Formats: sequence, C-alpha cells, structure tokens
Amino acid sequence: MAAKNRSVFFCTNCGYESSKWMGQCPGCKQWNTFSEETVVVSSKSSGNAVHKGAVVVGLDEISLEREDRITTHIKELDRVLGGGLVAGSLTLVGGDPGIGKSTLLLQVCRMLSLDGIKVLYISGEESLKQIKLRAQRIGEFNANMKLYCETTLSLIEDVIRKEKPEVVVIDSIQTMYNEDISSAPGSVSQVRETTGKLLQIAKGENISIFIVGHVTKEGTVAGPRVLEHMVDTVLYFEGERHASYRILRSVKNRFGSTNEIGVFRMEENGLNEVLNPSEYMLLGKPTGVPGSIVSCSMEGTRPLLIEIQALVCTTNFGIPRRQCIGTDFNRVNLLMAVLEKRLGLQMGSCDAYVNIAGGIKITEPAIDLGIALAVISSFKNIVIDDKMVAVGEIGLSGEVRAVSMITSRVNEVIKLGFDTIIVPGVNMDDLKDIRDKKNIRIVPAYNVQDLVSLDI
Ligand code: TYD
Ligand code: MG
Repeated sequence: MAAKNRSVFFCTNCGYESSKWMGQCPGCKQWNTFSEETVVVSSKSSGNAVHKGAVVVGLDEISLEREDRITTHIKELDRVLGGGLVAGSLTLVGGDPGIGKSTLLLQVCRMLSLDGIKVLYISGEESLKQIKLRAQRIGEFNANMKLYCETTLSLIEDVIRKEKPEVVVIDSIQTMYNEDISSAPGSVSQVRETTGKLLQIAKGENISIFIVGHVTKEGTVAGPRVLEHMVDTVLYFEGERHASYRILRSVKNRFGSTNEIGVFRMEENGLNEVLNPSEYMLLGKPTGVPGSIVSCSMEGTRPLLIEIQALVCTTNFGIPRRQCIGTDFNRVNLLMAVLEKRLGLQMGSCDAYVNIAGGIKITEPAIDLGIALAVISSFKNIVIDDKMVAVGEIGLSGEVRAVSMITSRVNEVIKLGFDTIIVPGVNMDDLKDIRDKKNIRIVPAYNVQDLVSLDI
C-alpha cells in the first residue's frame, strides 16, 4: 500500500490528536496549543516495542533472583528511581530549559563510567567542545564515557548497535529527527515516533536510556507530557532558576514508588546532593515576625519541613487580592473562608498572600494548619513561637483531620530542634510512645477554634 500524507492537528502540551484546529485542548484544557503536522500514513506500523526475536514465557518461568539495578552513586537520584537504574528502562527527565538536566545526566554518566559501565552521551544541542567545558567543571572522566553529537535517528541507532553501550543519554528528544516522518524536529509526531524507536532499542538491546525533554511554556515544541505514557519512568526537575536548589520529582515509575523527591543544589561544580533537605529549606527563616510558621509535608517516604509565610493587609482597591505561591490557590481561599466563618475573622477587605518559602511546591493538605496559623498570625499581627511546628488537614466545618505518617513527621521535627508541635487531636493515640520518651510538647488541635486558645 502506498504511503499517503495526511494533515493532523496535535496539542503540543499533551499530544491530543484532532482532525481540525481547536482553541482549547479537550485533553489538557490548555489554550492555543494546537499545531498542524503532516503525518505519513503507511501500512507499516512503527513504535512497536516487541522485537522480532521475542519469545513467549510463562509467568512462573521468570526468575527475579538477579536484581538488574545499576547504582548511579548519586543517592538522591537512586532514591527517586526507586533504588537505582533498571537495565533496559526508558527514563524521561523533564524540566524548564536551563534547570540542570544536561548537568545531572553528565554527572550520572561520569559516575557510571567510573564504575566501569559503558556510557554513550548523545547530544543534539551542544557541540563536543561545549560538553567538554561543562564536563571540566564537574570532574574527571574516563574512557568508558563516549560522546556523539548527532540528531538523525537512523545514525544514532547504528552507533548504539555498533558501540553497544549499557547506558545512553539522549539530550534532547526535541532535537532528534526521524527521516521517516516529514514533520519538523520537536513536533508531536517526531517526538513520539523517535521515542517509540528508542523504546524498541532499550527493550531489544537491554540498554537503559535517559531522554531529556524540555518543558516550554510557549508550546512551540512538543512537551514531555506527550510521551509520559510511553516511557517507564518520568522525572521532573523543579525549582526556581535563580534559587540554587533543584528538586527532582518522580511522577511515574514502573519500578518504584512515585512522589519521591531528590534535592540538589546547583553549584560551581555541578549539582550536589542535599542530604538534609529540611534544614536546607528552613535556611534564612526570619525570627520574631508575624505570618511565618513551619509545617511538615511528606514527600514520598521522607518528611520535609517547610516555612509557610502569609501576609494579610488592608486592600487599597475595591476587590481584595489573593495570591498564592507554591501551594494550591483554591485551597488557600477555602481555608480563609473556613477561618472567616468559624473564627469570625473579618478578612473580606484584606489582601492575602501565601508563600511556601524556597520556591518548592507543596499541595499536601497536611500543611493546612500551618497555612491557617500563618494567616491568623499575620492578620492579628501576633508572632508565632519560632520553635513551633503545625501539621493537620482542615475540613470545611473547621475540624482538624488526621494526617498520615505522624510519627515520622514528629521525629523530623524533634531532629531539627523544635520543641512544640501542633497535631490533629485524632492523631494523639499514634504518638503515645513519642510523648513519653522524647522531650517535645505535643499539642492536640481538634478544631480551628482550638487555635485561638493556643498560647502562640
Ligand atoms: P543545564 O544542565 O544546561 O540545563 P538544561 O540541560 O536543563 O537546559 O544547566 C545550565 C545551568 O546550570 C546554567 O545556568 C549554568 C548552571 N551551572 C552551574 O551553575 N554550575 C555548573 O557546574 C554547571 C555545569 C552549570
Ligand atoms: Mg541541556
């Protein structure tokens, strides 16, 4: 059957396919993300992960004795990957341009090659000299690390099959070009087909492949979300470009738990691990000022202490302004409504700003109590004790609801030298042991009304 050209519209954000242009994507609800691409329809199917030599096996014949995990010697990364890199896996590393994706992967390549693993770093973005300059900042490399600057997929495939590396890095997927597809590099169909091909190579040759995917706000190139469903693991880099710390978050992991985070700091010699993130997140916390409190959120299995700041002030315009950085805007509005109704705080003519210090994003409801206390403290101009932490979810009737893993949270709070923690009253039973043994004041809160009587 002869190949036929067809014009299709794709959403560059999520990859939604449509035969006509649309203003808003029905898939991800983003506006102005559709772009037209020509796809070749042929009888040959592509992007199929099953290679020719595949054999059918029974589930009972598969042995799990040998754990095919490779450690990257970067603890924070191993943790996010679920205990190391799995052989033959496809990992997507997404993030804004300039956040540190290439730097991290170059460091991974360095550690692996020092360990005697054959690594191939394929760059479509930088020249060999540029990579060398970056590598010099990171440290010494050895001969197991090979570089290749190319964007044509067929050539890349040949080199991989010839060199037989164990780990490959593709930097970035948006620059790669598959000649079988007529659309430009970075378009949805190119990005998808190229990833399909890489998937075939990874599974067929048992090579672990890292794919770098840029997130772009303009929607001019296909974002990494387009290929989330195709790869085994999806990691996203978060963080403010001007702040030095970076958070690596796993949003999908076929070989481990999601929502684990790795914390790094961008320094002169590349990304360095932050071994005690709570301490790091609280650096520079002001003392003796209203509107600031520490709360504790669980990031995967790890408790993380963060500072919540609120500023409530009289509005200068008719309509009060509400703004929120680092947490859910609607949740903050809801909490303020609860405080107005249940505590009678008249904040209707006030602007309110809530900020999670450090630029990290936390959406866990367990920080509700912290947000509420920060807002009350700023509104009433009362300073909250610096050695106090608050955790708890707040419901619409003002009740303080239980949070998960309360003991890990309290232990982290003790470890960092705080002396008081406000916890949901319903969690008190779980804390019996700690209450007796450790030197910490645990204050139960059953309802937001309890916050008024607290000695803060
Ligand atoms: P990069 O890894 O190129 O980002 P991406 O691949 O995600 O686009 O990161 C580049 C930024 O990191 C750049 O602003 C310079 C900074 N950087 C350092 O601060 N220290 C270093 O050792 C390196 C290599 C980069
Ligand atoms: Mg890069």
